[in-house]
Parts: sequence; C-alpha cells; structure tokens
Amino acid sequence: MNRRYMFTLIIMLLYCFMWYSLKPDEVQYDLTALVAPSLKDCNIDKSQSNDVFEQDIEYEKIVQARMRALQIAKVNGLDLKKEKPHSFWDFYPACPNFCPFKVSRVGRHGDGGKWLCNLERLKMKSNCIVYSFGVSNDSSFEDELVKNTDCIVYAYDPTVKQIGYPVDPSNPKIKFQPIGIGGKDQNISSVLGMQLNYPLKTLKTLMRENGHEWIDVLKIDVEGYEYESLSRVLGDFQQVLPFDQLLIEVHLSWISSEEVYSLVIPWWDALERMGLRPYFTEDGSPTRREYSFINIRNNIDPNNFRK
Ligand SMILES: *[C@@H]1O[C@H](CO)[C@@H](O)[C@H](O)[C@H]1NC(C)=O
Ligand SMILES: *[C@@H]1O[C@H](CO)[C@@H](O)[C@H](O)[C@H]1NC(C)=O
Repeated sequence: MNRRYMFTLIIMLLYCFMWYSLKPDEVQYDLTALVAPSLKDCNIDKSQSNDVFEQDIEYEKIVQARMRALQIAKVNGLDLKKEKPHSFWDFYPACPNFCPFKVSRVGRHGDGGKWLCNLERLKMKSNCIVYSFGVSNDSSFEDELVKNTDCIVYAYDPTVKQIGYPVDPSNPKIKFQPIGIGGKDQNISSVLGMQLNYPLKTLKTLMRENGHEWIDVLKIDVEGYEYESLSRVLGDFQQVLPFDQLLIEVHLSWISSEEVYSLVIPWWDALERMGLRPYFTEDGSPTRREYSFINIRNNIDPNNFRK
C-alpha cells in the first residue's frame, strides 16, 4: 500500500476520533429540557405481576428521569421549596404498585392519620410491633391500631407528657415514653431558641432497650428531625433496614433551599439504595408532605407484607 495513502488515512481517522471525543455532550441544561418523572413509568400491569422486584425494574426509569431533571433544576438554581415552576415533590412520585394490597387510611383525615399497606395482614398478625415517633396531642393513628389489631404500639414524643386524644393511656397495648428519635443519644436543651429538655435516642438504642429486632410499621412525624435520625438508622443497619414500612411526613420547613439539594436529595437517595420505595403520597403543602414507603429488601420476616 502507498505510504502517502496510509498517512492520509491515519490523519483522517485521528481527526474523526478527536471530533467525536471533543464534541460537547448532548446534555441540555436549559429548563425546557426539564421533565419531571411521571407516574406512567411505574404502572406496569398489576394483573401480570404482583412481584415488587419486577416493579422495581420499572421504577429505575423514574429514578433515572429524576436524576436528570434534578441536575437541570440545580444548574438553573430552581428553588424547590416553592410550588412553581416545580416543587420538590414533583420529582418524587409514589408508585402504587409497590403495595400489591389495599392501602388504608389509618387515623383521622388531615394531620395525624397515615396511609398503610396491607392493614389486613397486621390484623391477622399476633406478634406485631409498631413504633410511632411524634404523636403530639392527636393520636388517632395509634388509637385505630390498638383498637383494630393486636399490635403493640411504642409511641414516642418528647413534646407531650402522655399519649394524646383519643387513646386511653392505660391501654396495655400502648407504650408511651416522652423521648424523641435522634441522630444520637443525647439530651437537647433548646430548640429554635426555646429552652426545654428533650431526651433523644436513636432507633437502634430504643429497639435494644425494648428487645426488638423487627418493626412492622415505623411512623415518623418529627418536624425536620427525620434527616439526622434516619441517616443514623442507615448507618446502624447496613444490611437490611429493620422495618417493613415507613410512614413519614417529610418537612422542608426548617431547611434552606440550598439544603434541599445538599441534604434532602442525598438523604432520599440513600433511603432508596437501602430498598425503600414510596407507594403512596398525600398532598400537603410545598414544605411538607406525607409519604408511605415499603421496604423491598425485607426477607427477614417470614410473614412479610408480600405473603
Ligand atoms: C392539640 O393542640 C392544638 C394546639 O396546641 C390544638 O389546636 C388542637 O385542638 C389540639 N388537638 C386535640 C385533638 O386536642
Ligand atoms: C439525659 O438526661 C437524663 C436525666 O435527665 C439522664 O438519665 C440521661 O443519662 C441523659 N442522657 C444523655 C445521653 O446524656
């Protein structure tokens, strides 16, 4: 082969290679490219599969769409604490297919009640354990559980002296303590400038004190303490999170718009990496919202929610 021909060919190939590798990526960061994930993506036909692991393959599409959309939102400095053009919650749809059973409202409408997957199973279960953090003076959720199931409800709230209306505090199925869930075992002496004395304990400490290895339902409504306390749970239980379901009110009220990106999004990602999947959400306000999660890694409890 002619040397000059060979030389020209090599130069051309090099040129093509450089053109491809230096070409700017196709990622568009203008807001018109922002498409929040859609619920359509998780709706695979329920009649074809009840298997949450198959649902999870579809859910990955939502996670990918969310990551792209949030990157665009961040580059454009969108304030996700506002409702428009996009609120934080738009990026986090809940996929109903992750609860292949009935979702029931437990407790009264409005603040205080929660949405729960497969209440029927809890009604049949004999050794059922519920932990409820943040009962305040409205305990309709806890009341309905002690009346309709054999669950023992461990209720915690350092802001009140006893379990709230309408629960009978002497009911043996309620175990109330004026303690909060925290990122470490400590006593805090002020919150938002108010002098007080609140003992906090980690979930692991409380479970050890109570002699529990497993929780059927974990309810958390703790006004912003969910970030540090659940981050600690992730650190303490690195194999499998020790509960079937998490019913939580997520608050953006006490954190900055910048912390939505630096704190809340990584926190949510970390919960999902441990197998939590949102199956229900209820409209709240731009700064707080109820979510119900199922733990799809629960292979420990032989009577888990899938059975
Ligand atoms: C709980 O307390 C708040 C104010 O502290 C009050 O407005 C509300 O009515 C109380 N709810 C119940 C069920 O007692
Ligand atoms: C918190 O205070 C109580 C008594 O008020 C004490 O028994 C407990 O040890 C304290 N906890 C911590 C972690 O300091």
